[in-house]
Amino acid sequence: MISLNIQKTLGFVSKETIAAFEPKVKAAQEMLEHGTGKGNDFLGWLHLPSSITKEHLDDLKATAKVLRENCEVVVVAGIGGSYLGTRAVIEALSNSFTWLEDKKKNPVIIYAGHNISEDYLFELTEFLKDKKFGVINISKSGTTTETALAFRLLKKQCEDQRGKEMAKKVIVAITDAKKGAARITADQEGYKSYIIPDNVGGRFSVLTPVGLLPIAIAGFDIDKLIAGAVEMEKTCGIDTPFEKNPAAIYAATRNALYESGKKIEILVNFCPKLHYVNEWWKQLYGESEGKDHKGIFPAAVDFSTDLHSMGQWIQEGERTIFETVISVDKVNHKLEVPTDEANLDGLNYLAGKRVDEVNKMAELGTQLAHVDGGVPNMRIVIPSLDEKSIGGLLYFFEIACGISGYVLGVNPFDQPGVEAYKKNMFALLNKPGFEAESKAIQAKL
Ligand code: PA5
Repeated sequence: MISLNIQKTLGFVSKETIAAFEPKVKAAQEMLEHGTGKGNDFLGWLHLPSSITKEHLDDLKATAKVLRENCEVVVVAGIGGSYLGTRAVIEALSNSFTWLEDKKKNPVIIYAGHNISEDYLFELTEFLKDKKFGVINISKSGTTTETALAFRLLKKQCEDQRGKEMAKKVIVAITDAKKGAARITADQEGYKSYIIPDNVGGRFSVLTPVGLLPIAIAGFDIDKLIAGAVEMEKTCGIDTPFEKNPAAIYAATRNALYESGKKIEILVNFCPKLHYVNEWWKQLYGESEGKDHKGIFPAAVDFSTDLHSMGQWIQEGERTIFETVISVDKVNHKLEVPTDEANLDGLNYLAGKRVDEVNKMAELGTQLAHVDGGVPNMRIVIPSLDEKSIGGLLYFFEIACGISGYVLGVNPFDQPGVEAYKKNMFALLNKPGFEAESKAIQAKL
């Protein structure tokens, strides 16, 4: 079970200040539960875990089997909410090195459609040249330029390399039920396709086929992932009292810290496999809360790596930050520090200790140092890096984000600001329909 500890924030905001958020948190929970808040047509994620059926999971597993049997590599094409959750889960659960081996048990999952770098796409097409590869084209709108451009290249290469019939088998679309180019292409080409529900926004979609299909293809247990989310759906539900509800406490504490002048939240891990959980969380909170000229800036670091880069800033820079650490209680493997007779490196004082004990002391030492340096610290402890814990963690962050956004007073489920760059890019590229914008932007240059 996931737990949250806010003790090390209490020297910065009082228990009473946090407790005073209870009515606002309660109101936010009511708005989510009864669909009475802003963005209420995007609440499909709220009870998604407990409403997923066995038939749906079995269907996803059957599709995953087809790709697992026919592909050495599967390219997930998507951006933002259409790729970050998938990558977060797969990287958290994967061995750090086996993807480099020749004889792999599972298809290697790689990513495209999340940038427009020519070098990246060129190197990707080169890498795929001698591979049996498949593609999952993920886009809710079905029109996102980054993803569409990558998919155009990948579709052609897959058909050229593997033939039209096999391409049909190993290309899957996950998109809107009716609209968008991805839907039209999928229907015309006869690809297997899945629908992203209308009422689930991209950054809340990891437990839909958007995340579940690639995670199953990568060889992970999606039943357990969902089981972990279901457990957190109960724990963080509206019926759990404020003080026992980790999502309510997290939302209240971060808003209390924000009001006290702590404008930046840094999500911290001590395990590099969690790097993309950080990235997913940054999008979830950044896109949900950063609007109306408000919102905590979500930043992230990987420790102890970044203690040797960002550590200085965190310890002694501007005091506008707080940290939230994701701590993994039990590691999956055992490795002890060996004894060395010569002890030239002076590390014999650690001999016989588990490497994780050293890491945990780095974690504790960092927490104490940062709190002493003026940085409030929250700790989220997950039991281990497994499907159940990660499923629970994802749902915890989602519901806490919905509550926190409403407490802040914004609509957590829209992202109007994302359109500004797209409009300019289309104008600069002379996209049909953007003639007036093209003229206006040329005048500015
Ligand atoms: O959370 C969101 O809505 C966004 O981050 C989208 O996921 C992202 O922009 C990709 O959009 P689409 O799935 O329509 O290609």
